[in-house]
Amino acid sequence: MNAHSKIGLTVVPRENCGAEVLGIDLNNLSDSELVGVKKAYADYGVIFFRDQKITEDQHIAFAKKFGEIDINKFFPHIDGHREIAKVGKEKDQKTNIGGGWHTDHSYDRVPAMGSILVARILPPSGGDTLFANMVAAYDTLDDETRAAIANLNAVHSNSHVFGSKAYYNNEERKEFAKDEAVGEAVHPVAITHPLSGKKALYVNPGFVLRFEGQTIAQSQPLLHKLFAHAMNARFHTRFQWREGSIAFWDNRATWHYALNDYHGHERLMHRITIAGVALH
Ligand code: OGA
Ligand code: MN
Repeated sequence: MNAHSKIGLTVVPRENCGAEVLGIDLNNLSDSELVGVKKAYADYGVIFFRDQKITEDQHIAFAKKFGEIDINKFFPHIDGHREIAKVGKEKDQKTNIGGGWHTDHSYDRVPAMGSILVARILPPSGGDTLFANMVAAYDTLDDETRAAIANLNAVHSNSHVFGSKAYYNNEERKEFAKDEAVGEAVHPVAITHPLSGKKALYVNPGFVLRFEGQTIAQSQPLLHKLFAHAMNARFHTRFQWREGSIAFWDNRATWHYALNDYHGHERLMHRITIAGVALH
């Protein structure tokens, strides 16, 4: 068998959210394996790979199989490759990146499809990432809530996170405090997922401020109800990183949360973000 006909891929669903995709080498994917990876991504919203040996160039080559690379305006990038963002925490830093429920780039008019995160330096223990299933969260809303959000849009912003007056403008994370990169966008609260065709809840605690046409105060009760619902552990999976682990999530189908429980140790991940489509 040559590399174009073999298929070694096995998809093992995780409880509640996502799937592990096993039996493949991301540097030598056959056409049929790539089809299988794309299907697993659409079906599960986040897929995980183990025991991969992937260089920076191979990371870029893999990402390009899924779409155009969306170069992040805030993150420091690795030397020589603007496509690869460094998602890191140094030994002596306290704040981490992504340490709360969120989904990336929802403040963009055309939000990124997803990210491919490669573990480069891991702490001896801790530093897991949680993922939450927004298709399941939508499916389990009661009828009244579903009706309430059917025609609602939400305002997403990053000004409280990345602006000069925001969360990351502290001594440790000055590189993220860039006013020129602050953005706001309006998206439906419930979307039809562009890949799976399934309905998904598309509001997240990291970046959603309010519903369109409502004040922050008016939006609070329903917004908090949606967040509290999706924060239930029955929609979550906890991914424990090892050397060679890679997570590839879809921002329109999941939330994620980087746990910050490894103070005193370094953690470094390489992230490539892939462009998405408008969600209206
Ligand atoms: C990210 C992010 C999670 C992690 O890269 O967008 O939130 O576990 N990272 O590092
Ligand atoms: Mn993130």
